Amino acid sequence: MALKQMLWLISLQFLVLVVKIGAKVPAIIVFGDSSVDAGNNNYIPTIARSNFEPYGRDFNGGFPTGRFSNGRIATDFISESFGLKRAIPAYLDPGYSIKDFATGVTFASAATGYDNTTADVLRVIPLWKQLDYYRDYQNKLKSYLGKGKAEDVISDSLYIISVGTNDFLENYYTLPGRSSQFTIKEYQNFLINIAGNFTKKLYDMGARKISLGGLPPMGCMPLERTSNFMGGSECLESYNNLASEFNGKLNNLVIQQNKDFKGMDMVFSNPYDTMLDIIRKPAAYGFEVTSVACCATGMFEMGYACSRANPFTCSDADKYVFWDSFHPTEKTDKIVADHVVKTSLAKFL
Ligand SMILES: *[C@@H]1O[C@H](CO)[C@@H](O)[C@H](O)[C@H]1NC(C)=O
Ligand SMILES: *[C@@H]1O[C@H](CO)[C@@H](O)[C@H](O)[C@H]1NC(C)=O
Repeated sequence: MALKQMLWLISLQFLVLVVKIGAKVPAIIVFGDSSVDAGNNNYIPTIARSNFEPYGRDFNGGFPTGRFSNGRIATDFISESFGLKRAIPAYLDPGYSIKDFATGVTFASAATGYDNTTADVLRVIPLWKQLDYYRDYQNKLKSYLGKGKAEDVISDSLYIISVGTNDFLENYYTLPGRSSQFTIKEYQNFLINIAGNFTKKLYDMGARKISLGGLPPMGCMPLERTSNFMGGSECLESYNNLASEFNGKLNNLVIQQNKDFKGMDMVFSNPYDTMLDIIRKPAAYGFEVTSVACCATGMFEMGYACSRANPFTCSDADKYVFWDSFHPTEKTDKIVADHVVKTSLAKFL
């Protein structure tokens, strides 16, 4: 064989190799709450919204999308790290179509939880309904790409689930219903059972690579610190311990289902330690403020209370760990996203 021909063949093989590696995860498909909602709630009748300024003021030079952030959120950064798009669009946003969703989509809805009754509080999209939308998505994907190609995308995609905080803070500890039915231990197990049924259903629908997200140190959210005025506005240890305990149960669920279901490749992605480290040593990450949020007084405002007209909103969100009283800034989300990409998600890169 002539040298030129050989080189040509080698470079062609190299190209095939690169393309194959590049296509390892063709899409990122997201389920959950406000930590990963990119604006689905803009299209349903709920007050759990953030599609107005100052939300999004650092998103591509200023654009409120419905993300509960000043800019992008963790899943956007993860998508970018996987060589996919910079921002994952919301499934209900009519500005996008299956052509866009074929490489990434979020079905998430702010204020939802594992528990159906959590979604009822602010009338947002329950998890089972997000799965219905996903079923609808699979059908559209099959018409768009053809059955075979769509099935490849379905099995090779990375599925990210991030939900659970609202079940405790918005539901169990706020409303009388669940707390009169369940002890906190029973409630945790109830939620784990729902989580397990959800990931099993995803698996039955063809998903293989799944990232089950853990809870953040939720006692350190500014809203919870504000409520802890008797304790000097420190982090609420009881809520942090609860998050740790629940994360342990989620991790066990991941281990169990990887054993039980052939070909299942689920990982537990834990934001807890990284976030707590940021909160304890803010200067090491370039932050100046951890106990209050950037938006408004930073003590309790989120959603509509976090208004553009508020004169107290900070000018540089990068100095703050939290954007509103419940949600991290874009900068915090990027640090957490980079951490999970390097750890739990590294095997899928
Ligand atoms: C949540 O609601 C859906 C739809 O009504 C139902 O199919 C599902 O069983 C419910 N889940 C739980 C845990 O009650
Ligand atoms: C989870 O699925 C099992 C088996 O189908 C069922 O018995 C159980 O009730 C489900 N749990 C919840 C909370 O929906």
